[in-house]
Amino acid sequence: MTTTQTLALTIQSALQDGTERLMAVTDTPQLEAQLLLGHVLDQSRTWLLTWADKTLDLDDYEIFSALINRRADGEPLPYILGSWEFFGINFVVSPATLIPRPETELLVEAALEYISQQQRDVAVVDVGTGTGCIGLSIASHAANTRITLVDCSVDALEVAEENARHLNKFVALRQNDLLEGLGQFDLICSNPPYIAPCDMEGLDVADFEPHLALDGGASDGMEVITRLLRQVKTHLNPGGMFLMEFGADQGAAVHTLATETFPAASVEIVSDYAGLDRLLRVCLP
Ligand SMILES: C[S@@+](CC[C@H](N)C(=O)[O-])C[C@H]1O[C@@H](n2cnc3c(N)ncnc32)[C@H](O)[C@@H]1O
Repeated sequence: MTTTQTLALTIQSALQDGTERLMAVTDTPQLEAQLLLGHVLDQSRTWLLTWADKTLDLDDYEIFSALINRRADGEPLPYILGSWEFFGINFVVSPATLIPRPETELLVEAALEYISQQQRDVAVVDVGTGTGCIGLSIASHAANTRITLVDCSVDALEVAEENARHLNKFVALRQNDLLEGLGQFDLICSNPPYIAPCDMEGLDVADFEPHLALDGGASDGMEVITRLLRQVKTHLNPGGMFLMEFGADQGAAVHTLATETFPAASVEIVSDYAGLDRLLRVCLP
């Protein structure tokens, strides 16, 4: 009798075991156990539930168990799965990239609204692109665009390039410090790092997500934002739009900085679906 037969481990019992081991670390242990086992078996959650009584190979169980251990140690689920959904698209993620957040979809919606009102090709840049989720979501929903993805991290750009390839989108990729030395754009999008250094400690995500993607530098996390705003002034075409995500407690400071930098522009702070200040929209005359 083989070990597999001795254990007679089923999909259902593996899921039960995984769920129990994740209870201390997440509010959705059952869902996450299903996603992890589905990832190992390359099957959907529906398939797992349909074939719950099927015997699981010991090798598959051991791989699943190792993934459960990683999740139980606090590693975010997207890094274990290697991909995460944003704006209805599956993006490859790696520890070199921020995990795309649902609130960033607000920026993509605002970008698509602007592009839909233009009668010509729109030159778009996504500054601090990470996985490429902002620029590539725009590219996937608007044909009349020329997209540039910028990041200072080569490792992040490699992930963005992989996502562009999967989505079959032709985009320019630039390793660069923000907009320094780049050309002119009609639409500048960015979700820059904006967390204050003093808030980095004790932040759970900072144990796993890259500090480069989170730490906004001095001035309460506004250093990168301030530099970017100044650069936008010389890189945004007349009639252009600048969209930038920021931290929920930075709305007043971002608004003041933007009105000082763009006295002739329309400057607006947009709230996210949780009612928190989230997005800066600057429209040049
Ligand atoms: C908050 S993450 C955003 C990632 C992605 N756009 C998203 O929304 O999920 C910020 C990104 O900016 C990049 N970054 C940080 N400083 C930068 C700089 N000076 N120039 C270019 N990119 C920078 C980081 O590597 C990181 O990928």
